[in-house]
Amino acid sequence: MRATLTVERLSKLGDGAAALEGRTVFVEGALPGERVVAEVDTSEKIWHVRLLEVLAPSAARRPPACRLAAQCGGCDWLHADEVLQRSAKQEIVLSALEHLGGIARVGLAVGEQAVSQRALGYRRRAVFHFSKKRLAFFGRHSHALVAIDLCPALVPALADLPPELSEALAGIAKDVHEVHVLAEGPQADPPPFSPSGVEGGPSTAPRDARGERKRVSFAVFLTGPAARRHAEACEAAVRSLSVAGAVLVPKEGSPRLFGKPILRALAPLTPEVPVYLRPDAFAQANAEANVALVAAVAQAAGAGPADRVLELYSGHGNLTFALAGTAREVVAVESSGTAVELAQRSAREGRVTNVRFVQGDVPKVCRGLVSEGQRFELVVADPPRSGASGLGEWAKRLGTRRVVYVACDPASLARDAAELLAAGFTPLGLRLIDMFPQTRHAEAVMTLEAR
Ligand SMILES: C[S@@+](CC[C@H](N)C(=O)[O-])C[C@H]1O[C@@H](n2cnc3c(N)ncnc32)[C@H](O)[C@@H]1O
Repeated sequence: MRATLTVERLSKLGDGAAALEGRTVFVEGALPGERVVAEVDTSEKIWHVRLLEVLAPSAARRPPACRLAAQCGGCDWLHADEVLQRSAKQEIVLSALEHLGGIARVGLAVGEQAVSQRALGYRRRAVFHFSKKRLAFFGRHSHALVAIDLCPALVPALADLPPELSEALAGIAKDVHEVHVLAEGPQADPPPFSPSGVEGGPSTAPRDARGERKRVSFAVFLTGPAARRHAEACEAAVRSLSVAGAVLVPKEGSPRLFGKPILRALAPLTPEVPVYLRPDAFAQANAEANVALVAAVAQAAGAGPADRVLELYSGHGNLTFALAGTAREVVAVESSGTAVELAQRSAREGRVTNVRFVQGDVPKVCRGLVSEGQRFELVVADPPRSGASGLGEWAKRLGTRRVVYVACDPASLARDAAELLAAGFTPLGLRLIDMFPQTRHAEAVMTLEAR
């Protein structure tokens, strides 16, 4: 059937939510306040809605600055301005806390959202899959692959890399699970934002492509064991693309390095400590917004010289050294051996002596610390999307005064915050960092204190 709908809000999956016959339907591409005509398929339990026409466009609507906007799953909101994007993200987080966590927004101190300096050209890390012999992102709401020639969300050094990297790795494409690309961060001026398309974006901005590529590396994750031809392809790609290096990761066993794939990043707050990144380990996607993230976490933690800090999911040490700068001691727990090695190298070279790195699984390590009777005044957790179930109980039993939770998934934040409340903590504040402009993805820092 055809229906005229009024869009109320943006959903957590990025679509316009509207009421129809007593239920909520989701219209891809529609924005809050818009009157739209849609085709509604009511033949299945979940009604599928297709946008046909926008009768009254939102003032926030604009032409997307990427010709793949309708297909590619990378960016959901290129058709909305950043002011609307940011308020929608805040609403998504507050609504998840309210509905999934039982935490009322009234009384919750919400700080001003940290704005990404670049609306495009900000992503220093991306994950591709091969679609035949071309590197591709997943499509909108699907695992269908969309081949990428130019991605304006990526930093200039990476934006037009996919076709050349595809060609260099084409001979081994059928054995590849994923390709991760990484750059140190933006080195050129941001690409001018072009509402009429990608023209004027990264490919046409004047820049020193070869110089930038020296600060790029990539990782090839294989579906099986590594053979000589995989190594030869990586080695040849490093040479022909003039990138810093590559990591070949077999399904099982140790990764192999080619060239110099370890990149050095800007260390927010602690410039005396070098921070290292590798393309097969986690790195925050937006280097500039990451500066705001690290500052927000350090400020929320407020670690003093008497405080022991337990940092969970510590990665390559992105938050660790800012915390160690003011605390008595930081115990940093991380499962990736590669990330722990990078963090240990930073500590060595930066002469940081008050951090103990523990490589292990967070739940196991926390249970161990609890049974040893350890005490930590502060806990900082930055878990993956799946969250940190158990955190409330561990924090309580470790005698923690304050928990700072960094969330990339609002639903996991809400569930874990509810556990923290049940364990005797009370929300102190919330701050969003706009880490991923043009997408629905929200990054939030929540602070809770023991009652
Ligand atoms: C969102 S990242 C945060 C890393 C770091 N705080 C940063 O800002 O770069 C989550 C980290 O948790 C690690 N991780 C995932 N599951 C884990 C587990 N069960 N135990 C320990 N670490 C885990 C990942 O390897 C990754 O480095």
